[in-house]
This record gives sequence, C-alpha cells and structure tokens, in this order.
Amino acid sequence: MSHVIAIDGPAAAGKGTLSRRIAEEYGFHHLDTGLTYRATAKALLDAGLPLDDEAVAEKMAREVDLYGLDRSVLSAHSIGEAASKIAVMTAVRRALVEAQRAFSRKEPGTVLDGRDIGTVVCPDATVKLYVTASREVRAKRRYDEIVSGGGTADYAAIFEDVKKRDERDMGRVDSPLKPAADAHLLDTSEMSIEAAFRAAKTLIDAALKKK
Ligand code: DC
Repeated sequence: MSHVIAIDGPAAAGKGTLSRRIAEEYGFHHLDTGLTYRATAKALLDAGLPLDDEAVAEKMAREVDLYGLDRSVLSAHSIGEAASKIAVMTAVRRALVEAQRAFSRKEPGTVLDGRDIGTVVCPDATVKLYVTASREVRAKRRYDEIVSGGGTADYAAIFEDVKKRDERDMGRVDSPLKPAADAHLLDTSEMSIEAAFRAAKTLIDAALKKK
C-alpha cells in the first residue's frame, strides 16, 4: 500500500508551501485538494451556471478537468468565495472526494492537503498533520504575500475574510474543518517555514518508520 501524508488546516496556515516541500522531500505526488473545489467553481462561473444548484454543481465536479489548471489561475478571490459555497454541498463533496481518493493511491506515496483529508478523504493515512496559526498571523501572511507580489492590500479586510472563511469551513454540516483524533497539531504562529518543515519531517519520519 502506498503512503499517504494528510495535511489539514484553515485557510492561509501555510499548508500549501509545507505540503509542496514535504512532497519534494519524500518524492511523493502532491494534491492541493482546494484546487479541485476551485476548478469546479471556476468552470461553473465560466459557464454562467448557478452556484446554488447542487445537481448542476455535482455534474460539473464529475466532468471538469480537476488537474488542468494551477493555483495562479485559480487563486482569484472570487473563485475562492465560489469554491467555499459549493464546498458545503454533499453531492459535490462526494464527487470530489472520490477523485481525491483515487489520487491518494498513486505510488510510491502522496501528500494531500485540505480541510477533511485526515477525517474523511484518507482516514487511514500513514500520518496526519493539522497545521494552524493564529488568525492574526494568517491574515498578516496573506497580506505580506499580496504586498510582496506588488499588489495593494487592506489588513482589516483580509482579517475579516479569513474569519469568514474559517466560519464557513468549520461551521458546515458535511465534513467541517477539524483535526482528526489521531492528527499531530502543528501551530506555526511562531515558526518560520523552515522550522515548520523540520517539525513536520520529524513527525513524518517517525510515522514512516513504524509502518
Ligand atoms: O484551500 P482553498 O482556499 O483553496 O480552498 C477553497 C475552498 O474549498 C475553501 O472554502 C474550503 C474548501 N475545501 C474543502 O472544503 N475541503 C478541502 N479538502 C479543500 C478545500
């Protein structure tokens, strides 16, 4: 059986950067599962279809090329908002979870990051990490990212946005964001990316050795 490293946590906690580093370190395939929600949402928006019709959204989730676009195309704020709306729909989640599970079986191993990997998508993952940081730190990181990319940003608006996204992700009935009972908690509020990577690597190495 191939190994699965499950990485969950709230928006802007640094899961993406950490997951890519980990996948590279172990030579595993990486799937940012947020992109599957974003790709589905973008396809609905592009086709002028509604975001509140579960049957229409499910059909799109099953038809769209989930891996055809990268995060730079899908990172638009409007797509993130639309993604979080369709992410509350059970039929959409069922379709996307099937695709994510198929991905998780790739050899020699995979890293999946998202909100429900350890709890729903891959409950038997080799190792589960729940990566978080305070809301202030996450908003500041997103702010810095925009500013260093040459954009202008409003910290207060970003903070409100992170808060709203948390409420939607944690408050939904189907697969709410929460740490799996057997997840290792990694609070990166006071950590550099390098320190977070080293802490994650120590946990992963120990888990891989046991299996
Ligand atoms: O991580 P992100 O911002 O790209 O995620 C976009 C939306 O998709 C976000 O509102 C949460 C949702 N999502 C989810 O419900 N389950 C996942 N495994 C990944 C993302």
